[in-house]
Amino acid sequence: MDAKKYFNKTAKAWVEDAYNSKIYSIGHQRKKIVCKIFSKEPKMKIADLGCGAGYIALELAKRHEVVGIDQSKKMIEIAEYRKSLASPQVRKQVNFLYKPLQKAEGKFDAVIAIGVFYYLKKDLVFFKLVKKLLKPNGKLVVSARNRLFNMVSITERTLKEIKTKNAERLVKEIMQLYKGKVKGLKLEVEIHPKINTKSDAELRQHTPNDLKKIAKRHGFRFLNYYGVHPHLIAPPVFETKGLTEFESSPVSLAWSSQFIGEFKT
Ligand SMILES: C[S@@+](CC[C@H](N)C(=O)[O-])C[C@H]1O[C@@H](n2cnc3c(N)ncnc32)[C@H](O)[C@@H]1O
Repeated sequence: MDAKKYFNKTAKAWVEDAYNSKIYSIGHQRKKIVCKIFSKEPKMKIADLGCGAGYIALELAKRHEVVGIDQSKKMIEIAEYRKSLASPQVRKQVNFLYKPLQKAEGKFDAVIAIGVFYYLKKDLVFFKLVKKLLKPNGKLVVSARNRLFNMVSITERTLKEIKTKNAERLVKEIMQLYKGKVKGLKLEVEIHPKINTKSDAELRQHTPNDLKKIAKRHGFRFLNYYGVHPHLIAPPVFETKGLTEFESSPVSLAWSSQFIGEFKT
């Protein structure tokens, strides 16, 4: 199904999931980051390519002048409805256009494309268009799907990166990120440029399944596993409390450099 059909079919459900989900609302998270970027800028003329139901455009229009463009009729209908509920000041500053972003026209101080770029067949078409739309010194804010995450999430995508021989390149790019300081969780942590895996490599390692099998062979019945100090990257790189709340959930075994097994004879 192409993007146009997909978003016409799923517009309402997509908006519900992206902006109203109680579990993890990616739409709100992206909107927060984009609005933060533009909160310090003087009033700008912004093109929102693939504006969807206009959540970001309407928020930006509190301060900036925004043109939202989308090829999904359903999305534009929701955006127009949401606009009708906005303040007169916001309504004056935002316009929604129903057309493919490839047909966008005009000159803008900034272009945003959130959740859109990866639906386009070619990178080049997108960047050519953005260049045409931007005034000199213009700003582009674009979201992309992070391929590095394939090496962290450990899924079929990780296997595919290995099979297609891209894994090494991706791991090297990730290791470049293990530098400097990280601010978050109300603390600032020093992270280390180099992880010494040599000493760890000398010690024997087991997978949870391996240990279970050996224990079984020797007459032990498996009860539970606990991932010790789950963390998403190597501990010398990021020494924090980690995701300890997950210690007794199975996924902690994928996130821990050690685990504790509970067995019974
Ligand atoms: C994932 S939604 C994101 C909506 C909005 N940017 C947001 O973050 O809430 C992607 C939107 O891009 C639109 N889109 C995808 N390809 C497009 C194209 N070639 N021209 C215009 N809109 C497009 C879809 O119709 C959909 O509304």
